[in-house]
Amino acid sequence: MNDLMIEARGIRKQFGDLEVLKNIDLDIRSQEITSIVGASGAGKTTLLQIIGTLDAPDAGELKIRGQHVLGLKGRNLSAFRNSNIGFIFQFHRLLQEFSALENVLMPAWVAGKDDQITKDRASGLLRDLGLGDRLTHMPAQLSGGEQQRVAAARSLMNNPAIVLADEPTGNLDSGNADSLFDLFLELRDREGQTFVVVTHNERLASRGDRTVSMRDGVIIQ
Ligand SMILES: Nc1ncnc2c1ncn2[C@@H]1O[C@H](COP(=O)(O)OP(=O)(O)OP(=O)(O)O)[C@@H](O)[C@H]1O
Ligand SMILES: [Mg+2]
Repeated sequence: MNDLMIEARGIRKQFGDLEVLKNIDLDIRSQEITSIVGASGAGKTTLLQIIGTLDAPDAGELKIRGQHVLGLKGRNLSAFRNSNIGFIFQFHRLLQEFSALENVLMPAWVAGKDDQITKDRASGLLRDLGLGDRLTHMPAQLSGGEQQRVAAARSLMNNPAIVLADEPTGNLDSGNADSLFDLFLELRDREGQTFVVVTHNERLASRGDRTVSMRDGVIIQ
């Protein structure tokens, strides 16, 4: 399958006088890992927020899974987002009064799923990320990088068709950064998920299927 998961056309975004995205066209193919690289301030996070429907552009069109999403509002928009898109941010927030495993299980619980398969998936994701012996640790008992990996597992828990990750390896050493990327590759192959990964790490970026470079609000390749 090689159809388009995300089609962005003529996306513009301005903050005051500052033009942050200048007429961006971007296609994201299904079941691929697209890396987005570029200097600080190039507009990567702004673009990711827009294609994740968390922020609206000033102009342009956005189709996700063939559906025009810029017209969606309120409950329809959040329902669409919740059932299609997962986010991994550099600065995540775990629920402090729940264990690592419970934090990962939370999205499943919210969706009304609480069985052995669900538990196995949650602990499997944590094990894949090197946290198999941290399942019952509370967030305060985890290092920053461990917390980041728990948050990544939580984002992957409900198997979203699209995963948008903004510097997901920002707090990780190269071994753990590689493990997280390994998991993305495995989920792409095993579950057909589509990933868009913003990273400053060129070596990691090159492990994806395609790299998109941004500079000053435009895509340069
Ligand atoms: N809410 C906002 N109000 C005003 N300016 C903003 C706002 N959000 C972002 N900007 C500006 O837009 C530009 C692009 O920001 P963005 O966060 O998209 O960059 P980035 O490529 O993700 O950078 P980094 O690699 O540092 O995360 C920056 O110059 C930033 O200062
Ligand atoms: Mg950013």
